[in-house]
Amino acid sequence: MSFLEEIQRRRTFGIISHPDAGKTTLTEKLLLFGGAIQEAGAVKNNKIKKGATSDFMEIERQRGISVATSVLAFIYKDKKINILDTPGHKDFAEDTFRTLTAVDSVIVVVDVAKGVEEQTEKLVEVCRMRKIPIIVFINKLDREGKDAFDLLDEVEQKLGLRVTPLSFPIGMGYDFKGIYNIYGKKINIFSGENKQVVTEGEGVEFTDISVPELDKIIGDKAADILREEIELVTEVYPDFNKEEYLNGDLQPVFFGSALNNFGVKELLECFIEIAPSPQPKMSEERLVDSKEETMTGFVFKIHANMDPNHRNRLAFVKIVSGTFKRNAPYLHVRHNKKLKFSSPNAFFAEKKEIVEESFPGDIVGLQDTGTFKIGDTLTEGENLNFKGVPSFSPEHFRYVNNADPLKSKQLFKGLDQLMDEGVAQLFTLDLNGRKIIGTVGALQYEVIQYRLEHEYGAKCSYENLPVHKACWVDPEDHKNAEFKEFKRVKQRFLATDKQGQLVFLADSEFTIQMTQSKYPTVKLHFTSEFQ
Ligand code: G4P
Repeated sequence: MSFLEEIQRRRTFGIISHPDAGKTTLTEKLLLFGGAIQEAGAVKNNKIKKGATSDFMEIERQRGISVATSVLAFIYKDKKINILDTPGHKDFAEDTFRTLTAVDSVIVVVDVAKGVEEQTEKLVEVCRMRKIPIIVFINKLDREGKDAFDLLDEVEQKLGLRVTPLSFPIGMGYDFKGIYNIYGKKINIFSGENKQVVTEGEGVEFTDISVPELDKIIGDKAADILREEIELVTEVYPDFNKEEYLNGDLQPVFFGSALNNFGVKELLECFIEIAPSPQPKMSEERLVDSKEETMTGFVFKIHANMDPNHRNRLAFVKIVSGTFKRNAPYLHVRHNKKLKFSSPNAFFAEKKEIVEESFPGDIVGLQDTGTFKIGDTLTEGENLNFKGVPSFSPEHFRYVNNADPLKSKQLFKGLDQLMDEGVAQLFTLDLNGRKIIGTVGALQYEVIQYRLEHEYGAKCSYENLPVHKACWVDPEDHKNAEFKEFKRVKQRFLATDKQGQLVFLADSEFTIQMTQSKYPTVKLHFTSEFQ
């Protein structure tokens, strides 16, 4: 297969949802279609179980599983599909944001009864900002839920999307009869049996649903309702247009039940046809096209190994262009150092294995003993730095204190490496050099404490800090008089992040507003990526 064909057959995407909407179930069903697993239940649930929110032993156990499910690849109809796992738990939202920098499209799962939930809103907002093509899958149609049109409205309003349904449910819950596949012009009847088996049935073709045959298949009443609803769909929603979808301007919607493996095939068939192959990616220097022959890639995730005695980690690299070859020398741009990788891992279903070659869109896992941090770029020699792994303001802030004075070296090394992995963010207070850890969820503090002790032999304690938000300060402003005044007055609240950028730690929304109106030329940003 030629290099271009390899690129064109790849689909790298993430599934995002609020916890419990059915992401794991849908992933599993997609793998079943690809023949990558033989039975449902083979993909271990890597979400943190309900009620276990502060059980770090559980987190440790899950960490092992989530290495295996970080990338799930399978082949379907000759397309190589890479699903990048995104943790649903909100305390790990930062991980999900970073993973979104490595996907070419996403599928958003929405629970038919719960509708659009908070976590989904945040994640979709990031996708919208980045113009990532989105397909929506409304799940659990076998249960009573909201009216399909109300749901479509909700998706449009809460997620800020412009939708067009490509399938439509026939009834719901107890009355759920099946799906009309608008895209493929077919009807699929729901039997409620054979839950875990891939149904090979292609559905009954219905290019025209006004014909009386429809009444025979789904009954007079359901047929009349379906005709009315499809008429309304045609009137109200825009026609599907692939270009608009690819530009992030139109989002197709599918309905189904992942658990019952219903509506999933329609979704997958359409997905492989319309979803983008690996896209060009912007670097600080230039736009890099996936079809370029020289290899470029970037680290979007680092996973610590399970063995605490060996601090080796796995760095996940998304290949942006060219062919990644085992044992070839690549430039680690930040260190300006050539490195060779003798055992790059590729991922296939829930296994990982050493590969000789990987192509754009693929993810390779590189053994790492601390050379990589998130956002690092690899090239064949060009000085490139890929953009787009921003830090968002943490939501929790605590001082970190050394609880064992004899182990301060270990503590700092541990903190440094955990931050490179993206577990949390570290700030150093300008005034006195005290270290502050910022996290998205309270859970990370336990993870950090536990891992510092078990992997680095260091102990720490925390002290709460009443900070509402970290605001990155634009360095452009550093020279003017107003900035000097801002710095003098706010001295106690200024810190430096790990990249050396200045950060203002605001204690409330009110403070942010006041500061902005008092020092209008000092620009405050809520992510580290503003230049
Ligand atoms: P998540 O990864 O998004 O967190 O969700 P997951 O797939 O684990 O699904 C959450 C729950 O919803 C699971 O039930 C799952 O079986 C159920 N579910 C998923 N898809 C459907 C569907 O189409 N219809 C119905 N009725 N249920 C669905 P659970 O009881 O929480 O877990 P489990 O004991 O079944 O694993």
